[in-house]
Formats: sequence, C-alpha cells, structure tokens
Amino acid sequence: MSSADIAPAGLRIGSLWVRLPIVCAPMAGGPTTPALVAGVAEAGGLGMLAAGYLTPAAMAELVADVEQRTDRPYGVNIFLSGADPLSSPQRSDVRRALEDYRAELAPDAARHGATLGDARFTDEQVAEKIEALADHRPGLVTFTFGDPSAALIGRVHELLRVPVAVTVTSTDEAQAAVASGADAVIAQGIEAGGHRGLWFDDPSSAAGGPRTPTAVLLAEIVETVDVPVIAAGGIADGAAVASVLAQGAVAGQLGTAFLCCDEAGTSAPYRRALLDRSYRDTVVTRAFSGRPARSLRNGFATRHGHAPSAYPHVHHLTRPLRAAATAAGEADDINLWAGTGWRSVTPGPVAELMARLEAELTDRP
Ligand SMILES: Cc1cc2nc3c(=O)[nH]c(=O)nc-3n(C[C@H](O)[C@H](O)[C@H](O)COP(=O)(O)O)c2cc1C
Repeated sequence: MSSADIAPAGLRIGSLWVRLPIVCAPMAGGPTTPALVAGVAEAGGLGMLAAGYLTPAAMAELVADVEQRTDRPYGVNIFLSGADPLSSPQRSDVRRALEDYRAELAPDAARHGATLGDARFTDEQVAEKIEALADHRPGLVTFTFGDPSAALIGRVHELLRVPVAVTVTSTDEAQAAVASGADAVIAQGIEAGGHRGLWFDDPSSAAGGPRTPTAVLLAEIVETVDVPVIAAGGIADGAAVASVLAQGAVAGQLGTAFLCCDEAGTSAPYRRALLDRSYRDTVVTRAFSGRPARSLRNGFATRHGHAPSAYPHVHHLTRPLRAAATAAGEADDINLWAGTGWRSVTPGPVAELMARLEAELTDRP
C-alpha cells in the first residue's frame, strides 16, 4: 500500500472524520492554544485541546475559543487524577522522599529567588469536565494516565455522543481500555515527548515501566485489539506518519513537531532550547513532576535524576522554580518536554507545518 492510497482516507473513529491522519497532540501546561488547535483543524488534521491542570471552567473557555475559530472537528484530552501517592501504603516513604527532594531543590530555588511550592494532590475534576463539554461540540475525547472506567466512557458516549480514545503504553493497558469501552487507543512509545501515559508508575524503574519503542508497541497493539490505533512517540515528519499508517495505525499523533509553531504557547526559552540545539539529547526523568517524562537533558534533569515517584506532588513543588526560570529566560531549570525527534522541529505558522506534513505524507515516491 503506498502512502498516496492511505492519505485520502483521512482519520475515522466512529462519528469522527478528518481529512488527514495527523493528530496534533494535546500539550498541557502552555504549548496548546486555541489558535494551534484551530490551525490544525483548518488544515485538515485533528487538533487536540489539553484540559490537563485546568479547571472545568478554564477548559470550557478554551473550548469556546476553539469553536469561534473553526467549524471543523477538534478533540479534548483529559488527565485522569489517579491515586494520591500519599494515601498509598508506602505513604511514609513517599513523604520522606518528598522532604528529601525539597531539601535537594533548595539551592535551585534560592538561585531563582523562588519559594518551592506546596507538594500536594490535585483532583483533575474529570466528571465535571465531561459535563462542561455538554455545551460544546468536541469530535473526540481522549484520556491519559489510566483507565477511565466503563462508567466515565459510558458518560461521554451518552452525554456527548462522541468516540473516546485512551492513551496506552502496553498491550495490557490497550486490552483494559477496550474492555472499558474505548473506541480507539493511542499507543505511546518510549520516544514520546512529555509525560509517559503509563497507567502505573513503577518506582523501581527509571522510566516507570517498559521502554517499548513506538513501532514495536504499535505492531503488538494492532495485533491485540480490534479498535483503531493512533501511534505517538518520535514521529517527526510526514514520512514517519506514512510509516505508522503502513504498520496499521489510523493516524500519527505528533507533539514535539508543533512546539515551535507561531500559534503554540511554548515559552521563549523553551523554543530557543529546541531551535538552538542548546542540549544534546533527551532523557526520561521524574525530576520536574514526579512522573516519568521525556525532556531535553538540561541541568535540572541531570542534577535531579533520582526524584521521587510522586505525581502531582513534585509538579507542585517545582512549579514556582520553573516559573521563575521561565521568566528569567533560563532554560536550564525548565521542563523542556521533547520527543526523540526534536532535532526536526522548525519554527513558523502551523498552516505551513501542516502543509509540509501533508506533502511528505502524500507526495512520496
Ligand atoms: C510539551 C508536551 C506536552 C504534552 N502534554 C500532553 C497532554 O497534556 N496530554 C497527553 O495525553 N499527552 C501529552 N503529551 C504527549 C503527547 O500526547 C504525545 O504522546 C507525544 O508528544 C508524542 O511524542 P512526540 O513529542 O515525539 O511527537 C505532551 C507532549 C509534549 C511534548
């Protein structure tokens, strides 16, 4: 099958259809903006709004903004809250590890004149976010960081009448997602930028679990489940999208590739670090948030390689420090989420990037 045969089919998941099998990943924490989501939609791809870290009201405002910008389909990604590590049987160990980590971070905070944050649990208000979407028209809802459960997926189907996709990092997670009613899965390989979508962060593993590459994971999952599979992780151009399509994926989900689009909310020092090649490579680290995530290997990631497995506590602990570093333009202490394909990142309008991805996908020999 040539890529020219694949591309016109577009991406179909239940009632959702878009012209191109290209998904712009949800990127919580700043990079995703309504302009980026709408720009991808207008170009024929699927833009994903990131609801992670937001209140339902803040999410709804962004959704309304997207809908003012485009009539095309877009999706919304919701983080699951997960369990509070401070209510686990290991809570006293976790508390001690957090206190040690706070002490370890003190010199970094002092350097930026920042006060470390309150290491605490936050509820992502998942059910409330689903209810808040009832006044809007998302074409797809995706969940990350666990099994949304048959009840929540059922609620999306009943209330919003749109398909649901769940991020998975193993065949076990893919099977469980489908058993809960997922209409599609997003197979995220180890190359992916940002947080790994692991359902369980194994503290004994530096990467939180098996380091399965996207191509291997995709092949395994396509064999295992009967629902459409979106591939994510290290996909940096249209040829790589064509390659995952040829392997049986219905689309490629790209995050890092969109980080330097004009419409993205990526901070100036983060953009510079990607484009100036300030760092040599990437690393999966818990240093910034307490959950394994792939970042450029900057000073902070290098110094704090043994951060505790305690999300979102570490995220809140480091947040003021990261904000101060961002304001000061110092990339060395910022979470610089990036996938292994980060060297291909280019600046410019999202329409240009989408046109290039489409050309690379369809105009291949
Ligand atoms: C800056 C950044 C933020 C991200 N935030 C989210 C998110 O909010 N929700 C989510 O499901 N995935 C998130 N991801 C992961 C992406 O969905 C996707 O798996 C990843 O970007 C694919 O790898 P790539 O970056 O090599 O393209 C994020 C990735 C990046 C780079």
